[in-house]
Amino acid sequence: MRIVFIGPPGAGKGTQCKRLAKLLHAAHLSTGDMLRSVDRHSDLGRRIAGYIDDGGFAPDELIMEIVTARLAEIDYNKSCLFDGFPRTLRQAEMFDEILASQNSQIDLVINLEVDRDELVSRLLDRAKVEHRLDDNLSAISTRLQIYSTVTVPLLAYYGEKGIVKTIDATASADIVFERVKACVLGHSGDRPR
Ligand code: C5P
Ligand code: MG
Repeated sequence: MRIVFIGPPGAGKGTQCKRLAKLLHAAHLSTGDMLRSVDRHSDLGRRIAGYIDDGGFAPDELIMEIVTARLAEIDYNKSCLFDGFPRTLRQAEMFDEILASQNSQIDLVINLEVDRDELVSRLLDRAKVEHRLDDNLSAISTRLQIYSTVTVPLLAYYGEKGIVKTIDATASADIVFERVKACVLGHSGDRPR
C-alpha cells in the first residue's frame, strides 16, 4: 500500500505517519526530514537551507532525486507512507510516472484539514521544542500561502482518481489517528469526520 499524506504545515502529517508506520510496519518517507538531515556545512546543505529556511520549496528535480534514492533502498513489498511529498503538481506527475514504471500506484491520499489559527499555534509551540528554523511567524505565513496555492491543487489531481480521503485533523493526535486508521483499514468510501 502506498499512502500520500497531504496537509498544511502543522496538520500532523509527521505525527500520524509515525504512528501508522508502526502499525503497518510501513516505511515512512518524510521529505522535510530528509532535507533537514543534510549536513548544513556541505554545499548541498547550504543550498537546501537557502531554499527552505524562509518557508520556500526546494526545486522539484532535487526532491525527486532525494525521493528516488530513498525509494531504491526500500523493500518493494513494504507499504510506504509519503509525508510531505509530493508537494507540487509536477512532483505528483513525475511520481506517478515512476510508480507506473514499477507497475505500482498511489492507493490512498489522506488529506488532513486544520484551520489556520490552530496551525499557527501548533507550529509556534513546536518551535519551542524542535527549534526548526522555519517555525517562525514569517516563514509560517509563507508556508501556508505556498500550501494553498501550490499544494492544494494536488487534491483535485488525486481527487479525479477517486483516492482522496479528507479528515478533520483539528482534534487530538489520538482522535485523528482513529480517523486515519478508519480511512486505511475501513472499506467504506465515507468521509470520516
Ligand atoms: O514536510 P515538512 O513540513 O517537514 O517540510 C519542511 C520544508 O521542507 C518545507 O516547508 C519546504 O521548505 C521543504 N520541502 C520541499 N519540498 C518537499 C517537501 C518539503 O521543499 N517536497
Ligand atoms: Mg512534518
